[in-house]
Order: sequence, then structure tokens, then C-alpha cells
Amino acid sequence: MKITYLGHSCFLVETSAARLIIDPFLTGNPSAAAQAADIRCDYILISHGHCDHTGDALDIAKRNDATIISNHEICNYFAAQGAKAHNMNPGGAFNFPFGRVKLTIAHHSSSEDSDATNPLQPVYLGNPCGIVIEADGKRLYHAGDTALFLDMQLIARGGLDLAMLPIGDNFTMGPDDALDALDMLKPKAGIPMHYNTWPPIAQDASAFAATAKLRSHLVHPLKPGEIVTI
Ligand code: NI
Ligand code: MN
Repeated sequence: MKITYLGHSCFLVETSAARLIIDPFLTGNPSAAAQAADIRCDYILISHGHCDHTGDALDIAKRNDATIISNHEICNYFAAQGAKAHNMNPGGAFNFPFGRVKLTIAHHSSSEDSDATNPLQPVYLGNPCGIVIEADGKRLYHAGDTALFLDMQLIARGGLDLAMLPIGDNFTMGPDDALDALDMLKPKAGIPMHYNTWPPIAQDASAFAATAKLRSHLVHPLKPGEIVTI
């Protein structure tokens, strides 16, 4: 399975049966490693309804005739705009043709910043989620935007080949909490995400990887455009 980091929290996951993009935010992302118009995929997985995770979802969904997989409210929001969608919610899993997807809890928020016709009323987009993908005998966890939470111990059951964890701080876990997350999740490898896109979330991913190594965790501080194969 090939995983390409496209910047911020966006990854392209290529399984033997399908191409998945997680949290597509390329347009307007200063660190994006691809353009939305160049993305080819079958499914779009969205952790929560913030624009730095949903930004290019509708455009990519329509151009690829791809199915959006997310919580109920996000799916309905994009389905109402013409996208194909598969509604889920935290705790639920479903067997797709490429493998199994389960949504987990995440401690964060989920809304569009504003409705242009009513800027005082944000569009509510359900509960934020993490995403567990099982495909080709591998098990991945994309934590979305989340605070540290003790139930990560439950996600570790069954083993994880890869965990994508936010380290940016301010909006999500920072590096210290992400280290505690690694202790609970025990993935074979971790990838930091959601950092350096803007000044409030500036972090040193190499230092994070070095500290993680002292706690016996393998972390790949990928630059946008870099690839890991698991
Ligand atoms: Ni967010
Ligand atoms: Mn975010």
C-alpha cells in the first residue's frame, strides 16, 4: 500500500483495489504537493467539516465521480451539492470494495466557518471523527484533528501499521500529546500532520521524530510529496 503525503492532513492512499484521498485540502494550502485538478481517486474520506479538510472535496468528488465517506452531516452537505456519498458516524464500520472503514471519535469541532448569506450562523457539520482503514492486510489510523484521548487505547487493539497524528498544537494535539498518543496506539510507524501550514501550528517534525525514537517509536517526518509504502 502506497501512502503519499500531500500536505497538512491530506494523504493519497493507494490500495490494490482503489485510490483514496483523505482530507483533501490543496487549493489555498501553501504547502500542498499536488493540485486538486490532478487528483485521481475513487473515494474521498473526510474526518470533519473544517475547510482545511474539506476544501477540495466537492470538486474532486465530481470530477472523479468519487464517493465521499464521512459523517452523516458532511455527507448530506456534499450530497446536496451533487456528490456521491456514503454516510457513516463514529463507532460504525463498513466493508467497501477496497476494504473496511471505521470512524472513531475525535475531540474537536466540525462546521463551515460561515454561510455567505448568514455570516453569523456557521453550518453545523456533525461530529469530528478519526478514520481507521483496513485494506490489503494493513490497518491505518488517521486521527483527524483531535485532542489526546484515552480511548486511543481501544483503537490500538488489532494493531496498527500506520498512524497519522496531528502535532501542530493550538487547534489539535501538540508534539507532547502526540507522543502520548504513540504510546497508546503503538503503531509500527507514525506520520506527523497538521503542522507548519501556518505560523500558529509551526512545529519541528524532525525533532518530534527524534523524541519519538527515544520512546521506541518509528516516525516518518514526511515532506509534502513524499511517500511511504507499508
Ligand atoms: Ni479542524
Ligand atoms: Mn484542521
